Amino acid sequence: MSAPLRGTRERSGTPATTSPLTAGAATAVASLCAALAVLLLALASSGGLDRSVLGDPGALVRYGLPIARTVHDLAAALTVGGFVVAAVVLPHPSPAWTRAVRVGAVAAGLWAVAALFVLVLTAMDVIGAAPGAAGFGAQFAQFAQQIDLGRALLVTTVLAAVVATIGAAVTSAGGAAAGAVASVVALLPLSLSGHASGSASHETAVSSLAMHLVGVSVWVGGLAVLLLVVPLTGRATAKGERSVDLVTVAGRYSLIALWAFAAVALSGVLNAAVRLGSFSALSSSYGVLVVLKVVALVALGAFGVWHRRRTLPVLATSRRAFARIAVAELLLMSAAMGLGVALSRSPTPVPDDDPTASAAENLLGEAVPPPLTVGRWFTQLSPDLLWICIAGLCLVLYLLGVARLHRRGDGWPVGRTIWWVLGCLSLFFVTSGGAAAYGRVSFSTHMLQHMLLAMVVPPMLVLGAPVTLAMRTLKRRHDGSRGAREWLLTVVHSRYLAVLGHPVVAAVLFGGSLIVFYYSPLFELALRTHVGHELMMFHFLGTGFLFASVLIGVDPGAHRPAYPMRLILLLATMAFHAFFGVALMQGTDLLAPDWFSAIDPTANLLADQQRGGDFAWGIGEFPTLVLVLGVAIGWSRSDTRENRRADRAAERDGGRELQDYNAMLERLAQHDGPRGAGQQAGRQAGQQVGREAPQDAPRPPAQG
Ligand code: HEM
Repeated sequence: MSAPLRGTRERSGTPATTSPLTAGAATAVASLCAALAVLLLALASSGGLDRSVLGDPGALVRYGLPIARTVHDLAAALTVGGFVVAAVVLPHPSPAWTRAVRVGAVAAGLWAVAALFVLVLTAMDVIGAAPGAAGFGAQFAQFAQQIDLGRALLVTTVLAAVVATIGAAVTSAGGAAAGAVASVVALLPLSLSGHASGSASHETAVSSLAMHLVGVSVWVGGLAVLLLVVPLTGRATAKGERSVDLVTVAGRYSLIALWAFAAVALSGVLNAAVRLGSFSALSSSYGVLVVLKVVALVALGAFGVWHRRRTLPVLATSRRAFARIAVAELLLMSAAMGLGVALSRSPTPVPDDDPTASAAENLLGEAVPPPLTVGRWFTQLSPDLLWICIAGLCLVLYLLGVARLHRRGDGWPVGRTIWWVLGCLSLFFVTSGGAAAYGRVSFSTHMLQHMLLAMVVPPMLVLGAPVTLAMRTLKRRHDGSRGAREWLLTVVHSRYLAVLGHPVVAAVLFGGSLIVFYYSPLFELALRTHVGHELMMFHFLGTGFLFASVLIGVDPGAHRPAYPMRLILLLATMAFHAFFGVALMQGTDLLAPDWFSAIDPTANLLADQQRGGDFAWGIGEFPTLVLVLGVAIGWSRSDTRENRRADRAAERDGGRELQDYNAMLERLAQHDGPRGAGQQAGRQAGQQVGREAPQDAPRPPAQG
């Protein structure tokens, strides 16, 4: 081994005898063993390995499926960790960055293989037959294509294979970010597996498991990858490569770990609450596993505090302590992951499907809200974990940004803060309050929710100028890595946003989506599936935000046409909206009748749909007025600014611009001969007066 490596080996905390890669491999094997040992012990104690009363899929499935699932979850975590650490923690290009991406790509390959095993073994578990059995092929195809769980596992398998392929070719920071996003997206369908696939509290179960899986993968995978790149930090680099400072990157990971810890704790407790139903259920075999997980989480929290207080402060001089604690932490995390898989295979105190639930409750995944009244509209709740987190984080991070500006002695318009706070509170109401509780119960209340989400919430958020605040408060990176500020800049100035933020594109997306969504199977898909519902929310909020940003935004990004053009665009889009409303009011073809009649068999669906048309038209008008006012105010302010600018320029250069303009007119007049001369004389006379005259004297047209 070469001299530099020896030096590095000593500082990297591993005893001089083993190479870093051997140590890495040993840690990986130990983590896998810890996860599998805890998994099998937990399953044995919770009855998860027992033959079920519904028929025995055989030992291969009873043992093979949870084992394959554990390998799957560990490989998925390493994949997400590799790309996330490369995308937001490590400088690019650097050997550490390359290793992180390579680890991510290799892990994704392993993930795809494990996912295929999970798919086949789950199919065997559901079908109750082995691959060789007659008809298994056809049933397997049906399971993978038509059953939610089968489809979710198939999508994950394919996406993991795609990530492995992308990963192998990644050489740029953008590629690492694409790998990170693709691997997180590949995790999401898994939230439809385990107990979450049942109907009881389906939305909360799915959202919390999705947040749990992403939090665990970033946390565990990030630490594993950080450990694997430690030997490549703090050493001389080849030409054109960036050096990697371990203290800096460990500090960055530590912040990510803190957020992941919070996400795992919140989502784990919420998911456990859905499955347990009461505190007394903690004494059940499922409950005991949950308690063990809480203990594991608390211990991992203690590791985090230890790192922050003891190992990170001395990391520049000693890596041994950091590496040792991190390896121990990784073993505990793997054990907790084994427990997680055991939980997903163990019988729960609250059955996945509530036998007492009505058809409507099974469809909604929650209790049907009481008949709508004005009071209930403002008091009923239907908590959506995902949007509670989004609205909450947007609010907290924005206020922290404003506080940071004030601490620095910089100002921030209070109006913007008020609009942003109102925007976040309205977003909470529309996604978790009365609007959400009744949003899937009838067409009219659905349209109310849609109009508020697309037309009322976005203008408030846009007026908060979040991108400008972020640019003024987020710290810049100097080591070639990309943090929140750098990625925000990349997105804001990207070609994609330039296209999406083009006024015509934004208007077409805003208006056209209505027709595409309501007159296609997308509407029913959004009513029947949780993923469809969330995607609908993102789409309408996103297109509403883009459109409002083109009209009244102050942040960089969207291309903003001249004010008259904005008014024309707004009025044209609103006319289209009104047309859509009228079409619903006069239409007789029912939209998603099977869904609404299943929720309320007594409802007059056509009358309700026509009322929805009223709302689409009526509610659309108020925000339009606000937008028209916003554009008009913006216009007059920009005029005032323009006038002030021209005045300041005139004071600075003695009205050079006006003189140039007059000279140009002069030249034109001479070009036009005697007819032109008469007109020119009139103008000069006016200007003579103008020097003392009011503002509206004719001025040379403004530049640009
Ligand atoms: C407060 C602590 C925690 C609680 C209450 C908790 C609870 C849960 C619950 C209820 C599930 C769903 C199981 C099912 O489908 O029924 C789950 C899944 C999972 N948990 Fe946790 N958890 C906690 C902490 C952790 C930690 C610290 C880790 C690892 C670092 C972890 C890793 C996992 C994994 C990997 C799964 C998914 C298993 C699968 O279906 O593949 N959890 N957890």
